[in-house]
Amino acid sequence: MCGIVAYTGHKEAYPIIIKGLKRLEYRGYDSTGVALLNGGLNVYKKKGKVSDLEAHLKDVHLAGNIGIGHTRWATHGAPNDVNAHPHYSSDKKLAIIHNGIIENYSVIKQDLINKGHIFLSETDSEVLIHFIEDIQVHANCSLEEAVRLALQKVVGAYAIVIMSEDNPRRLIAARKGSPLVIGVGKDEYFLASDATPIIEYTKEVIYLDDHHIAVIANNHLSIKSLEDIPIIPYVHTLELELESIEKGGYEHFMLKEIFEQPKSVKDSMRGRINAHKGHILLGGLREYINKLTQAQRIIILGCGTSWHAGLVAEYVFEELARIPVEVEYASEFRYRNPIINEGDVVIAISQSGETADTLAAIELAKSKGAIIFGVCNVVGSSIPRATHAGAYTHAGPEIGVASTKAFTAQVTVLTMMAIVVAKTKGTISDSLYRELLYALEAIPDQIQKTLNNHSQIKYISSIFRDARNFLYLGRGYNFPVALEGALKLKEISYIHAEGYPAAEMKHGPIALIDEEMPVVFIATQDSSYEKVVSNIQEVRARKGRVIAVVTEGDKLIKQMAEFVIEIPATHEALVPLLSVIPLQLLSYYIAVMRGCNVDQPRNLAKSVTVE
Ligand code: AGP
Ligand code: GLU
Repeated sequence: MCGIVAYTGHKEAYPIIIKGLKRLEYRGYDSTGVALLNGGLNVYKKKGKVSDLEAHLKDVHLAGNIGIGHTRWATHGAPNDVNAHPHYSSDKKLAIIHNGIIENYSVIKQDLINKGHIFLSETDSEVLIHFIEDIQVHANCSLEEAVRLALQKVVGAYAIVIMSEDNPRRLIAARKGSPLVIGVGKDEYFLASDATPIIEYTKEVIYLDDHHIAVIANNHLSIKSLEDIPIIPYVHTLELELESIEKGGYEHFMLKEIFEQPKSVKDSMRGRINAHKGHILLGGLREYINKLTQAQRIIILGCGTSWHAGLVAEYVFEELARIPVEVEYASEFRYRNPIINEGDVVIAISQSGETADTLAAIELAKSKGAIIFGVCNVVGSSIPRATHAGAYTHAGPEIGVASTKAFTAQVTVLTMMAIVVAKTKGTISDSLYRELLYALEAIPDQIQKTLNNHSQIKYISSIFRDARNFLYLGRGYNFPVALEGALKLKEISYIHAEGYPAAEMKHGPIALIDEEMPVVFIATQDSSYEKVVSNIQEVRARKGRVIAVVTEGDKLIKQMAEFVIEIPATHEALVPLLSVIPLQLLSYYIAVMRGCNVDQPRNLAKSVTVE
C-alpha cells in the first residue's frame, strides 16, 4: 500500500531513499515525498510516481546524511501534493512519514484546532505529528517521550518515522499493525516497509514489533515498548539476494514468478518432506499440531488469491483428514459476530502477512479463543506474529501484484498440513500417505513440464486477447482453480471473467454462451471427468469457444475443444498445483498483448494494509 524508507549514517541519504522508494513501487501508491536535513529540515513531495518527484528535484541541493521518504496510498484526503508525506509539525521542526490509519484522528484534530493548530492537509498523519509536537511542548518532555505518550492515545495502525531539525542525527520509528523493518549496517541504519530497499546494503535486519519504538541517535539504536520497557532486538540475517528481487531476465516480475514455481514449490517443501523416509515435518506446527488433529472444525481466513488457496485446502482437508472446513472471506468474517466453538481451529492465509482484513479477522478469532495457524510468505510480517503457530511458504519475494507462486506455495503447505493431520488421525492408509508424498515430490518437475507449453499458451492468448468476457469452469478440486484463473485474467488484463463450478452453468451462466464467449474448462481426468465432458458438450452446442486444460494423453476432449492444454497426471488432490499454471500464463500473455501494466495493474496494490 504505502512505502516507507529512511536512512541515517555516513552516506548521502537522498540517493538511498529515492532508490529504496522505487524498490517499493510494487506496493502501489499515488504520491511520494522525502524530507532531508540540508540547511534546515526540508520536505519535498508531490502527487505521482517516484520518477515524477525525482524530476521535480533535479535542480535542488539534496545533500545530507539523514532523511525519510514515503510513497502514499491515500486513506484520508485525496491524492495530491499537500496530502503527500512527509508532513511537518506546526513549527516545521519535525517531519513524519506514516503508513496506516489513525482511527481517532478527527477527535485529536479538533482538540488541536481548538488549541490553535493549523492543518495544511486532510490527512490523519499530519494530525499525529502535530499531536506529538503539542505533547512535547505542554509536557515539556523529550521528543521520544512525546512520541511514546502520543502513541498510547492513538487508535489505529501505523508505521512511522520522525525526524527533527533540532536533533540532526536522530530518527524515531514506531509501528502498530503496519510493517517496519530496520536494516543494521556499519555505522548506518536503514528503515523500510520491507527488506527490498535494504537488502543491497545489509542482510542484518530487525522486524520492529507492534507497540515498539525505535530511536536511532548518533548511530546508536535503542528499542523500547510503549510502556517504556527496554527491548533487546532480535537481528535476523536475511536469506534474500538482491537478484531474487530483480526480474532475472524476464520481461515482468509476474512472468519471472510464474517460471519460478518449480523452485518455489520445491522450496516450500524443502526440509519438510521425504517420501523415501515417509515423513513430513512442519516445525512451526509442532507445538500445536494436536490442536489441528483434534479440531472439530477448521475455519480458513483469507482474501483474494489466498482465499482461493483456502478453498483448495477445504477440499483437501475434508477429503484426507475428514475435518469439517469452512472458508471465509476475512473481510466478511471480521464484521460478523462469528461463532467460534471450543475445538475450532483457524488457518489464516496471506502472502504479504500484512492484509488488514485478515489481520483483523485473526484478532477477532483470537479474542473468541480460537487457536490460529498462519500460512504466510513474508518472514516476520504482522500475521505470522499474530498467530499461535504456522508455516512460512518460502516462495521468496513476490513482487508482481498478481499472486502466482504464492498461491502454489500456499496450496503446497496447506496440503502438507492436511496430510500430516490425516496421517496422525489415521484417516488415510499408509499406502495413500506414501503415494501423496511421492506425488508431491514430483510436482516441481511436473510444473516445469507444464511451463514448457508456454508457446502454445501464448498462441492461444493471441486468439482471445480481444475477448470481452471469459468463463472459467471446474469441478471439485478444480473449482477453486477456476475462480483463481478468472481473478488472474480480471486483475491484469481488465477483461471481465467469472469462475464457476461447472455444474452451475445450467443455473444461469449458460445464457451467456455464444460464439463470442471463450470458456476455459479445467477438465482433468478425475472423479468428475465425465460430468465435465458433458458440460463441454453443452457449451459447444451453443457455439461457445472451449479452451480445456486436460490430463496429458486425453484424446476425447481433443475432439471437442478448440484448444487443449495438457498437464501431467497426478493425484486428484494435487491437480490444482498444475492446472493453475496454464491459467496464469494465459492471463499474463493476454494482458501483455493488451499493453496492460502486468506487474502493477491499475487500482491494485500488492499488500492491502488499509481497510
Ligand atoms: C491476488 O492476485 C491479488 N493480488 C489479491 O487478491 C491478494 O491475493 C489479496 O489481496 C490477499 O493478499 P495476501 O495474500 O497478501 O493477504
Ligand atoms: N492514512 C495516511 C494518509 O492517508 C497514510 C496512508 C498510507 O498508508 O499511505 O496519508
